[in-house]
Parts: sequence; structure tokens; C-alpha cells
Amino acid sequence: MLRDDALRERLGRLAYGGDYNPEQWPEKTWAEDVELMREAGVNLVTVGVFSWAALEPEPGRYTFDWLDRVLDLLAANGIAADLATPTAAPPAWMIAARPEVLPVLADGSRLTFGARQHYCASSPVYRAGAATLVERLAARYAGHPALAMWHVGNEYPGVDGCHCAVSAEHFRRWLADRYGDLDALNEAWGTAFWGQRYGSWEEINPPGPVLGDPNPAQMVDFRRFNGDASLECFTAERDILRRFTPDVPVTTNFMASYKLLDYWRWAAEEDVVALDAYPDARDPIGQVRAAMNFDLMRSLRGGRPFILMESATGPMNSRRRNSARPPGQLRLRSHQAVARGSDSVMFFQWRASRFGAEKFFSAMVPHAGTDSRIWREVRELGAELRDLAPVAGSRVDADVAMVWDWRSWWALELRGRPSTDLAFHDQALAHYLPLWRANVPVAMVAPDADLSGYRLLVVPNLYLVSDAAATNIARFVEDGGHLVMSYFSGVVDEHDRIRRPNAFQDLLGVRIEEFNPLQVEEALTLRWSDGSESTASDWQDLMRAEGAQALASFTDGLFGPCPAVTRNAYGRGTATYVGTGLDDTRLRQVVLDAASAAGVRPTANVPEGVEAVRRGDHLFLLNHTGEEVTVAVPRPCVDLLTGTRHEGELRLEPLGVAVLSVGQIRPEGAVPRSAPSTGARNFPHQ
Ligand code: GLA
Repeated sequence: MLRDDALRERLGRLAYGGDYNPEQWPEKTWAEDVELMREAGVNLVTVGVFSWAALEPEPGRYTFDWLDRVLDLLAANGIAADLATPTAAPPAWMIAARPEVLPVLADGSRLTFGARQHYCASSPVYRAGAATLVERLAARYAGHPALAMWHVGNEYPGVDGCHCAVSAEHFRRWLADRYGDLDALNEAWGTAFWGQRYGSWEEINPPGPVLGDPNPAQMVDFRRFNGDASLECFTAERDILRRFTPDVPVTTNFMASYKLLDYWRWAAEEDVVALDAYPDARDPIGQVRAAMNFDLMRSLRGGRPFILMESATGPMNSRRRNSARPPGQLRLRSHQAVARGSDSVMFFQWRASRFGAEKFFSAMVPHAGTDSRIWREVRELGAELRDLAPVAGSRVDADVAMVWDWRSWWALELRGRPSTDLAFHDQALAHYLPLWRANVPVAMVAPDADLSGYRLLVVPNLYLVSDAAATNIARFVEDGGHLVMSYFSGVVDEHDRIRRPNAFQDLLGVRIEEFNPLQVEEALTLRWSDGSESTASDWQDLMRAEGAQALASFTDGLFGPCPAVTRNAYGRGTATYVGTGLDDTRLRQVVLDAASAAGVRPTANVPEGVEAVRRGDHLFLLNHTGEEVTVAVPRPCVDLLTGTRHEGELRLEPLGVAVLSVGQIRPEGAVPRSAPSTGARNFPHQ
């Protein structure tokens, strides 16, 4: 049994809880804490995330007694602990004695003590201190009845790359491992440009302040290295924990679609993916961003359920204006996480802090206490989540995959590109939006992943691509898959060196000659094959069809009439290429046409603004609108949340949720994966 399955079995239902920081409170509060936790249906809390100073107040003097009492109390009340290693907050005594633990920023300044995450991931002093403490912690609590999961550190990587001498030396060793010899490095980094050739390893440093733009290959490698340096910290702690508790799952909290770490690499090293999700309560498409993040987290370990480790019951404190959540949104968005594969709903934090940098951050028990809207919502949500026990462990199947690649993301957003306004996350969201609106489940994939289980592959942007990944994508289409790929893809190899021809030239059947980023206000006219017109913005490829058919062409612009959107038959599949910025309606049309051709169908046909997600035997209906809506139900079924039996249709109140026990049915009219595509239109708004 995998360790995440063991956790689920132990909890017996979805996890509910949050970060619990009893060290911030007098001990007399603790009894009330657990009483309220029971009242709210809490069954898992994260303990001790920043408690290094509380556990080791002086070098080598340990004060575990308070944590003993906390864990005993939790165990006695049937609440499990996600026990943290407190290594994200090295204590003041360590910093005073060994200031070299503090990281150095790119401008050469060293951080000071006074917040958290203030460590250099390469520092042997930090690593040794962390290892000693983690060993003590693991030895003491292995076998403790409360221990259900280990939570290593917090939100790696802390700083965006340390530039100290120790890190520089570590970077050189990492490069030597990667390239073997200097000639290979000089070649990969293109150091013939601007006379950057290196004659010895000692000459190489992390990219620091330079005049103009730094070497892009060096930048991308430094990013990879930083991730690996942090990952070494994580795996070192994990390995200690595994020695003492081989069956207890180990995780660390990810920050959603976060740029600095390649989470494909990280997820492979942990037992369960855990997510910290803090969408803006007032963002009009917050539910879409949230859905995309949930899909990414679920996909990181091949579709296995993830843990929503932190979210907010109310306002945050990190934005310019931190709005309260509208009544009902906490419930709706929590169910959305479960619908999309979370086996938990957890928050930062249990009790709102009285002091410190986050005292205005909301909590399960707010400053206003239990006579409050937030507490009532927290209690009601806890009761509902108990009823969703049958959902735990089940999966969300997807016929559509979207490529998500951190290395390409890093390289794309360096300076010195045709347009520095082209951002991966924006592109990903634009391509995800039509699929979300059409209620088509999406799995995120690495470009070199096994794609054989999908019908449609969406590539919003893949600027940097390895040979292996390019071949993998081409093979997917050759074998009958359908592809939608957007502009500025396949442009460079994994060292950010220009590819000529473009990596996808044959697959797309187009030859791209020039890139012409449009100015912010500039719009061109596209004529589609049915004679209709639309506007194009942001980008224009000058391309020639070499086998592909034009679906839309520019009618104006620098280059005069030329193809803008093309489709190419390749092997048994088709490859659609979008060489410009389409408006929402046209991008939706292109993506959903390809989905239809691939035989993809929506999970359910529901009113606009209602999200329908199948997770295992259950159909989640989530009404993100402020209006009551009527939704057709696919067969007679029971709503797990209310116990009500529905037949024909049901009504969902504004921000309402239903979780219908629909059993193993395929969406109406679904065709088996192996069936040839009919080209039928499967989406009502097409
Ligand atoms: C992150 C951290 C928490 C807390 C919250 C709220 O998710 O992991 O410690 O700081 O943000 O800001």
C-alpha cells in the first residue's frame, strides 16, 4: 500500500483542519482548542511549522515537553498530526553564531534575521543543524499515536537563489556533474557570445549584477540548480524521517502554479502532493485559476489525490486590499478543491494569531471568537465534509492534457526575447479557460510524459523543448492524437539555443520565418475559412503553410495576407497551430473544435457559470454565479450533502453545491477512447 493510501485509510474520510500553532498561546487555551476542533469535525492539524526556537532554544538543549503534551492531547481527542520539521525558521542563536547561514541575494546583500525562510540551501551549517533536529524529532515521535504525516520545512525554496560563496561552490559542483567537462559547458551556454568563455570551473559564478542581460543558459541552469539545492534539503530530511517511520507519508507544501520550482521533480520525491492555495476572494475568474491549480496538483503524481494543506477562511494580509470572502464562497471553493482531487480541506491557520506579521490573516477560529460568521461557516463545512467520506481516494479522469513545463517557463520569461510581455501563466490560463467553461476535465502533463491515454493535447506555449519531448509530442499526434499548440513554441533547445528548423515544423506543417510581437494597442484582422472575421493581438508569426491548411489568415499587418491559424494532418491525428493572439471567443472555438474532433465530451451540459466535475462515482455541481440555476441530472441520484434524491433536474442556490452519487456512468453519448473521431460538435456553444 502506498503511504498516501495508508493516510487515507487511517483518517477514514477527508481530512479537515489547519496549521495549529499552540506555541503562540498559553497552555490553558489548548483544551479549548481541541474541544472546538472536535466541534468543527477537525481530524488533522499541522503542528510545529516554525517551532525550531521553541524546540531547541539553545544549541543542543531540547524542549520537547510542550510538543509531547500537544501531541498527547491531540491523540486523546482523536485528532491526527501532520507533524512539521521546523527547519524553515533557523533560530536566532544559529544566525548569531553562524551568520553565513543567511542567504545572499543577487545584488550581493545578505538577508538578516527577523522573518523566516532565511537560510542558504547549500549551507552545511544549516543542513547539519536541520538534520540533527529532525533526527531528534523523528526518534521521539516515531510511533506516537497522533503522528499521521510529516510536513518538511515550509514553502520551499525561500529565497530565489542564494549567491553566497558556499552556493557558488555548490553551483560549480552541480555544473561539473551536469556537463562533465568545461568544453561541454561552454558549448551549452554559448559562451562564444560576448567573449564569456570559461577556462576553469573556479571562474564560474551564480549570475549576479551585470551590465545588460546575463547569459540566458546560465540563468536557466542557476534556476535548475536552486531547485535541486532545495530539493536536497527536502530529501535529506525525508530520508531521516523514513529511517524512523518508513510507513508515514512525507510531504511539503507547494505554492500552486509557482514559477521557481519544477514540481514534477519534487512530486516524484514525496508521498503526497500538498497545496497552499490563496486565490483572491474578489477575482472574477478566481474559480478558474483555482481549478487550474487543483488540476496541476492532482496531475503531479499521476492523478492521485492531493492535500489542500492551506487555504483561507477569510481575508489574507498579503494583498493591497484584503477583502473578506463573500458568504458561501468558503464552502463553494472548498468543495471545488475536493471535486478536483483534494482529499482534504485545510487552512492557514487554526486560531488567528494575536501578534506577529500575520495577525490580520484569517483563521478557523477568528479574533471574533466562535460567535462569528467565519466560525459558523467552518463548523458547517466540517459537518458537510464528513458526509463526503465516500469521495476520498477517488480519481478525476481526463481525456485532455495540457503541457506544463517549468524549464520552458523559466527560459521564456528571461529578458532579451521578442516580447517580454509573453508570460507562460497567462497563456496557460487563456487556453485552460475554454475547457473549464465547457466542463472538460484537464490533466497537466510534462512534455515528455506518456500521452497515450489522452485524446487532445493543448500546448499553450512550449518555447524550450528537448529533442525527446518534441518527438514525444509528434508521436502522440502520429498515433491519432489531436493537438492545439500556440505561438513561440519549439524555438530553442534545453540550453536556450535556437532551433532551426523549429522543433515542430514537420508536425505543424508550417515554416515560421519571423516573429512580430504586436504593440499593446495594435490589432490585426483575421479572416476565417467560413468568411467571418476577428481581431488578433499580441503576436504575429510570419509563416508559410508547408502541408498545413489555413483556418484563418491575416488580412492586414506588416506582411500582408498570410496564415495565422493552421491545421495539419499528421499521421493519424491533426495538429492545430495558433500563430497569433486570438480573442476569447475564437480561442474557445479553436480549442473546442479540436476537442470535438478528438471525441472529447463535456462532463455535463450545465448553465454557464456552473462547474461540473466527475470524481469517481460522484458528480460535483458548483454554482459560481449569484443566481439560482436549474441543472439536469444524468440519472436518479442522491445528493451526499443533503441526502435528497433528485430525478430529472435540481435547483442550485447562488454559490450552491451538490455532490451527486451517480455511479460509474460515462458522460452521455461518450465514445470509447479507441473509436475514430466523428468530427461532431460536442459542445453546445460551438
Ligand atoms: C503560507 C505559509 C504560512 C502562512 C500563509 C499565509 O502558505 O505556509 O505559513 O504564512 O502563507 O500567509
